[in-house]
Formats: sequence, structure tokens, C-alpha cells
Amino acid sequence: MKKTAIVGTGSYLPEHIMTNFDIEKFLDTSDEWIYTRTGIKERRIADKGQATSDLCKVACERAMDMAGVKAADIDLIILATITPDTHCPAGSNWLEAKLGCDNAVSFDVTAACSGFLFALHVADKFIKAGANKNVLVVAGEIMSRVVNWKERESCILWGDGAGAAVVTESDEGAQVLSTHIHTDGAAGDTLLMPGGGSKTTPISHESVDKGLHFLKMIEANKSFKVAVNRFAEASEEAAAASGYTIGDMDVIIPHQANLRILQGVAKKLGVPIEKIYMTIEKYGNISSATVPIALDEAVRNGTIRKESLVLLTAFGGGLTWGSSLIRW
Ligand code: UT7
Repeated sequence: MKKTAIVGTGSYLPEHIMTNFDIEKFLDTSDEWIYTRTGIKERRIADKGQATSDLCKVACERAMDMAGVKAADIDLIILATITPDTHCPAGSNWLEAKLGCDNAVSFDVTAACSGFLFALHVADKFIKAGANKNVLVVAGEIMSRVVNWKERESCILWGDGAGAAVVTESDEGAQVLSTHIHTDGAAGDTLLMPGGGSKTTPISHESVDKGLHFLKMIEANKSFKVAVNRFAEASEEAAAASGYTIGDMDVIIPHQANLRILQGVAKKLGVPIEKIYMTIEKYGNISSATVPIALDEAVRNGTIRKESLVLLTAFGGGLTWGSSLIRW
């Protein structure tokens, strides 16, 4: 049986920081409300000239650098995003060209905040089937361009950034022990971008006036309970698949949508909150890119060490959820 390993990670956060105090200046909200309800203090915002593939390019180059692989060695790029440069061609195609990965095939996956885990799942299966050797699994988002900056319930949550991993067929390096993904399309209307697809095309003055091109969160407080339960289920599933319990985990990296959700997950799983790696305060929710950005940060700052048992887990719009267990 072929083995899948993560041999390099990388991330990129745009330089511009937007604090809660900056948002107070144009919206009826406060740093106090945002911080106590979400755990977020600031988020990064991409420059006007940057597209999602630009953010991803830097994250991928950093991951390839750590892995010691060249652009020509990559044979597949899977980009998880809900904010591609364009819907056609796929965002990953622009990225492939910018990276000069001339030997790679590329495609996107759309699974909202669970996107990186969906992409990792596909990469793992392709590698184990012998179809690919060196895969760039990357997630990047410019959420600041799809949120409605007049909707205080939603816009305060999101930020921009990209994270990547070089995933290789090898029995050396961080071993991907298992990956798990799930979908519940029936609840897809709780977090969605209604416009821009065949349902509302062509784009009209009416659809723009109605704000259909913006990300919508319907009854966001109800997704709280669902999120906590799905995070916990996916975590238990990944631990059990390799004969472990949650107590065996060294580092848990969940998608970061709200600090209170993470506190609920820690309580439900019965783990100390310190085991949960957090980036929410400084980056907010970067949809699919949240997990690989946190992973890269934890690798580079030594939180994740050789032999660490690392659990990745995510929940997001779609609905989608998933997990992966990795022996570093
Ligand atoms: O990535 C996975 C997908 N993400 C999610 O599923 C998001 C999960 N949900 C959440 O994170 C939270 O539900 C929110 C942060 C979005 C909202 O927090 P909440 O504690 O559920 O607040 P709420 O929606 O119940 O609103 C409470 C009050 C309302 O006022 P009234 O009706 O009680 O007078 C809102 O109008 O807070 C008000 N409010 C705000 N006030 C100041 C809502 N947003 C704001 C704001 N600033 N930004």
C-alpha cells in the first residue's frame, strides 16, 4: 500500500491588517461586541491588485521550499476555494501558470470552510491509487470581496489568506493516516452565495441590487450547535480510524469560525482548550484557508514536532465537514 506524506507547508497572509476598531468607523458595531461574541480582534485584507492565485502562489512557494521540491516536480494542483480568480477557468489554472508547474494538472474543489480537508482527501486517494506523486494541496480565499460590508452580522467574521501543503507518495515525512469527508446538501441554504451561478445568470442590475453576489449567512446562531456536533463527530471518526482516542492527540487544528464554537468543541471532546491551536484572534475566518494557515504556523513555531499526532477538522457551508489524522 502506498503511503501519503506531507513534506512541506507554507502560508501567506496579506500585509494589511483591519482591526475591529477600523470596522467601528464605518459600521454600527464595536470591538467589545466582536471580540466577546467571536474571539476576533483583527483580520488581513488583500490589496486591490491581488487575486486569490497571488496569495496561493506565495503559500505554495513556501511549501515547496520547505519540501525541497521544484515547480517541475509537481504533477497535480488541487485548489480549495470559494473565491477563485474566475469561475472559468478554474482558479487553480491561473495558479498553475503563475507557479510554472508545467507538468501539473490542476482543478478546484468547492467545499467552503472544509475545502482544504476535501482537497487533502482527494490528494491522498490519488497518491494511494498511484495516479500522482507530488501534489500541491492549497487553499486560498479573498473573503473581503464577497462579504457585504454593510451586514454587521457577517462581515466582521471573515479575512483573507492562503495555506498550502506539498503532499507526496512517501513513507518518510508526516504520514497522513486517514482522511474523512461529509456533505449535507439539504442544509446548503444556511451559508451560501446565491448569485453568480446558473440560477441567477446573467448577472442583472436586479441581482446586484438584491446583493445576491454576497455571501449570506441564514440564522447563523443555529449553525453553532450543528458545527459543534459535526466537529466532534469528525474528530472522533479520525481518531478511531487509526485506533486512537481524542486524548491521544497532541495538537488539534480545527477550522476557526468562532472562538465560542471552539470552546464548545473542546468541551464536547473533553480536551483542554490548550490542545486546540488558535489563530482566530488575529486572522478571523478565512474559510478553506484557515486550517492550512494554522497548520503551517504550528509547524514553523514548533507547536507541531516530530512524532506529534495532529488532528485536522473542519465544518462549513454546503454543509460540509471532515477531518484528517497525521503522524508528524
Ligand atoms: O465557517 C463556518 C460557518 N460560520 C458560522 O456558522 C458562523 C457561526 N455563527 C456565529 O459565529 C455567530 O452566530 C455570530 C457571530 C454570527 C453572531 O453571534 P450571536 O451571538 O449568535 O449573535 P446574534 O446573531 O444572536 O445577535 C445578537 C444581537 C442582535 O441584536 P438583538 O436582536 O439582540 O437586539 C444582533 O443584531 O447582536 C446584534 N449584532 C451585532 N451587534 C453589534 C449582530 N452582529 C453585530 C455586530 N455588532 N457586528
